[in-house]
Amino acid sequence: MTSTGELQGAAAPGTPRTGVLRLKVRGLAAGYNGAAVVSDLDLEVHAGEVVALLGANGAGKSTTLLALSGVLAPLGGEVEWLGRTRMAPLHVRSRNGVAFVPESRSIISGLTTEDNLRLGRGPVELALEYVPELKRLIKRRAGLLSGGEQQMLTLARALAGRPRLLLADELSLGLAPMIVERLLTIVRRAADEEGIGALIVEQQVQSALSISDHAYVLRRGRLVLEGPAAELHGRLDEVESLYLADAAV
Ligand SMILES: Nc1ncnc2c1ncn2[C@@H]1O[C@H](COP(=O)(O)OP(=O)(O)OP(=O)(O)O)[C@@H](O)[C@H]1O
Ligand SMILES: [Mg+2]
Repeated sequence: MTSTGELQGAAAPGTPRTGVLRLKVRGLAAGYNGAAVVSDLDLEVHAGEVVALLGANGAGKSTTLLALSGVLAPLGGEVEWLGRTRMAPLHVRSRNGVAFVPESRSIISGLTTEDNLRLGRGPVELALEYVPELKRLIKRRAGLLSGGEQQMLTLARALAGRPRLLLADELSLGLAPMIVERLLTIVRRAADEEGIGALIVEQQVQSALSISDHAYVLRRGRLVLEGPAAELHGRLDEVESLYLADAAV
């Protein structure tokens, strides 16, 4: 899948990924003030796929998503999303079917759950269909929701807009395992039922791999491991050792 010879675990030949290409990244370089913290990144997301982007703290996961969502101008490489090569500002992408859920929760705490959902691009009813848990919280001010409920609200709002590509950065940050599972299940369902292509950054490696189709592991801004999620799930020790190696630096 990628041309880098250093990869320790590219997908086995003979297991091609199917589906329409929603995101194709070649040689992406991204960073701050002209200095790259992510380099040579090749990555793909197909329709109906959940793809996990993994790596230790500081590996460059958020930087990658910021560059893909257009918040950060890439320093190099090519990003083709929904068949278009041109980069466009985020509001244009969102009109064109790309939804970005950033690391920080983006709710307006003074507004009710319902009004927050109305700020999205899609119908409130569809948001509630994805996340029925929000029904009983519909009139509550979003600032009074728990962290997990706020994150469900963010995800429901993004999915209700029927994006064709979802980019989500650490949906599960600081949340209990049960909520993490629930959020990931919702993403999986959106991919299965609506054909959404999802690229998710996730710290909970095992949970992420168990619902994903494919995964990429970044280490210090470079891709070091890639493969079908089921295969990487079977090599969990190896994946986790990459995290530990970074933590020891
Ligand atoms: N605004 C910024 N200016 C300069 N450097 C930054 C900025 N934001 C992040 N970095 C640096 O870029 C590198 C990658 O950071 P990034 O946030 O992409 O990592 P991450 O994989 O998302 O980590 P985490 O799991 O902690 O969220 C880190 O060395 C970080 O210090
Ligand atoms: Mg991050």
